[in-house]
Amino acid sequence: MSENRIALVTGANKGIGYEIAAGLAARGFSVGVGARDEQRREAAVAKLRAGGADVFGVPLDVTDDASVTAAAALIDARNGHLDVLVNNAAITGGWVQAPASTDLAVMREVVETNVLGVVRVTDAMLPLLRRSPSPRIVNMSSEVGSLTRQSDPRHDSGPLSMAYAPSKSFLNAITIQYAKALRDTRILVNAGNPGFVATDLNGHRGHRTPEQGAAVAIRLATLPDDGPTGSFFEDAGVVPW
Ligand SMILES: NC(=O)c1ccc[n+]([C@@H]2O[C@H](COP(=O)([O-])OP(=O)(O)OC[C@H]3O[C@@H](n4cnc5c(N)ncnc54)[C@H](OP(=O)(O)O)[C@@H]3O)[C@@H](O)[C@H]2O)c1
Repeated sequence: MSENRIALVTGANKGIGYEIAAGLAARGFSVGVGARDEQRREAAVAKLRAGGADVFGVPLDVTDDASVTAAAALIDARNGHLDVLVNNAAITGGWVQAPASTDLAVMREVVETNVLGVVRVTDAMLPLLRRSPSPRIVNMSSEVGSLTRQSDPRHDSGPLSMAYAPSKSFLNAITIQYAKALRDTRILVNAGNPGFVATDLNGHRGHRTPEQGAAVAIRLATLPDDGPTGSFFEDAGVVPW
C-alpha cells in the first residue's frame, strides 16, 4: 500500500472539481482526476501537472456501473487505498424546471447523476476508504438543496427547480444516511455548499471563482479526526437542512 495520501475527485476536468483537485494536490495529496471524457481528462491532468500537481487520470462516468468499478480497481491496483473521495460531478438538467412541465426523463437523468452516481461511486470506493487512517467523503451539494432556504420566501432560492434542487436535497439526505452508517468508523461524511460560482453549470453567471467554490470541499476533505460528520457546510459555517 502506498504511503501517499490519495484523493479522488469526480468531475475534476473543469469548474469547481478541477480546483478541488488542484487544492488537494497543493496540500500534498496525489489526486485522481475523475472525468468521463478522455480528451478533457487528459487536458486537465496535463494542466495540473504543469502547475506541479501530483495527479493521475481516472476514467469515470458516475452513471456507469462498469466505469465506476474500473475506477475503483485502478486506484486499488495503483495505491491500495483511498483517503479522500469528493463526489463533485453533477448536472442541472437544463432550465426551465417548473412543476407540471418538467420532463420526467430530465428528472431521472439528474437523479441518476447527482444522487445515484454518488451512491454508486461511494459504495465502490468504501473498501478503499476503510484502509485509510483518516478517510473523508465530501458530497458537493448546493444551497438549493437546503429545504429550509428553499421554503423561506425571504431567501433568494433561485428559479423553480423540479430536478436540480431536489436532487441536492436527496443528496443531503443520502449524506446523513452514510454518516449514520459510518459513525463508528474513522470515515467522516459531509456535504458542502460552494456558493454561486462562475462555471459552465450556470453559464458563468456566478459571482464566486471556482477556487473560492472549492475551498469548502478542501476543508471538509482535510478535517481533523475529531471533526464533524453528517453535516452541511459552506464557508460561513453550517447550512440548515
Ligand atoms: N457552480 C455553482 O454555482 C454551484 C453552486 C452550488 C453547487 N454546485 C455544485 O458543485 C459541483 C461542481 O459544479 P461546477 O459548477 O463546477 O459544474 P461544471 O463546471 O458543469 O462541472 C461539472 C463536472 O461534472 C462532470 N460530470 C457531469 N456528469 C458526469 C458524469 N455522468 N460522470 C462524470 N462526470 C460528470 C462534468 O464533466 P463533463 O465536462 O464531461 O461534462 C464536469 O467535470 C456540482 O456538484 C454542482 O452541483 C455548483
